[in-house]
Amino acid sequence: MNYNLEVLITEEEIQKKVLELADQINKDYAGETITLVGILTGGVMFMVDLAKRINVEVVFDFIDISSYGEKADREKNSDVKLNRDLLFDIEGKNILIVEDIVDTGKSLKYLQQYLKLRKPKTVKLCSLLNKPSKRLVENLKIDYLGFDIENKFVVGYGLDYDQKLRNLPYIGVVK
Ligand code: IMP
Ligand code: MG
Repeated sequence: MNYNLEVLITEEEIQKKVLELADQINKDYAGETITLVGILTGGVMFMVDLAKRINVEVVFDFIDISSYGEKADREKNSDVKLNRDLLFDIEGKNILIVEDIVDTGKSLKYLQQYLKLRKPKTVKLCSLLNKPSKRLVENLKIDYLGFDIENKFVVGYGLDYDQKLRNLPYIGVVK
């Protein structure tokens, strides 16, 4: 299958940003242990690269959630489904959620609330991409953000088009 792809963010730009984000994380969590919670599947590529640049102690865990539908109810997050739970007990831990992209924000809002029930010490969010124009939830703070992008469907570096193209080392737009 041939795709007509346009590069939006190059591999070099991504790697430079990963370093900047890791530097900030290293400062903010100096002397602490972080549990990186990668959101399957899209967040994996970013999490792996980020983790390589983090120099405080980290633990890896993963969670799989999916959000449904465009017909958003601004007050509810019930259209988010938990497909696979965390492996570890997160009580008292520093949780850093690692995500590929925040779109409507519904998945992240749900996840933050869900994780807070388990009494972690802190919960922060790190996302490579953000589409602010698509937001349907209020007060979703992205503590560490790579790039704000326009409302375009993007692929690569973890992001898929029908489960494919996740392996591209750059972020592209399917034309
Ligand atoms: P939301 O913020 O709850 O709407 O969901 C975000 C999830 O939708 C992300 O984690 C991605 O898996 C997926 N997603 C959103 N925008 C894109 C895109 O442009 N390309 C690929 N996946 C996307
Ligand atoms: Mg995702």
